[in-house]
Amino acid sequence: MDSNLQELRKKYPWPDERPDGKNHHRGWMSKNTKIALQLALDRNMNTTKGFVKGGIVLELGVFYGKSARWWLRRGFDHVICNDIFKAKWAGPTHYEDFLHSCWDVRDKFTPLKMPSQEALVEVARHEVPVDLVYIDACHDFNCASADIILAHRLFPNSFIVGDDWNFMGDAVEWTSWHCKFLYEVMIPCWWITNDRPQIAS
Ligand SMILES: C[S@@+](CC[C@H](N)C(=O)[O-])C[C@H]1O[C@@H](n2cnc3c(N)ncnc32)[C@H](O)[C@@H]1O
Repeated sequence: MDSNLQELRKKYPWPDERPDGKNHHRGWMSKNTKIALQLALDRNMNTTKGFVKGGIVLELGVFYGKSARWWLRRGFDHVICNDIFKAKWAGPTHYEDFLHSCWDVRDKFTPLKMPSQEALVEVARHEVPVDLVYIDACHDFNCASADIILAHRLFPNSFIVGDDWNFMGDAVEWTSWHCKFLYEVMIPCWWITNDRPQIAS
């Protein structure tokens, strides 16, 4: 495992014991989302059928980990799982339920319980070599714009992709003008096309 990622994991460890909680498999990975993300990976990471070999994902808005598990199935090694864990669709034990539900993949997930912009700064400060940033946290214009601008500035070598064009489209359009990047859309996803990093196998 990358040494900077190891340092981050030391600072944000899993509990020693599996917390009490409920197993949740809910999430927003629809068939269309998977098709769009697979296409995004093929076009921008030169993969075939979206399959990569290794790499680190920073996911903003992990909810119960459904999409984070999908990154592992596509061949990524590790997902840094950010969320405030106060989703309106989850109960007061959102964080404990996330830890409970993802206990089986705890060596592959690093939980970062904080607002998305703090998470971006914290991961960049640790210089973790993030290959892909997945933006699916706050969806209002100001907050989503801040996520996109920060991700683009702090992770210039990462592939930046997001969900929910219907909600975030205005933020993507505005930040593309502000930051001078190009993007593509395949509903419900969108991604920045300027940088085309390749993962070392
Ligand atoms: C649409 S859900 C994410 C779904 C998940 N990616 C999936 O596909 O299964 C949005 C998540 O973003 C989180 N969230 C909302 N605002 C946030 C913020 N400012 N920082 C971090 N997470 C946030 C919510 O708690 C919620 O869990």
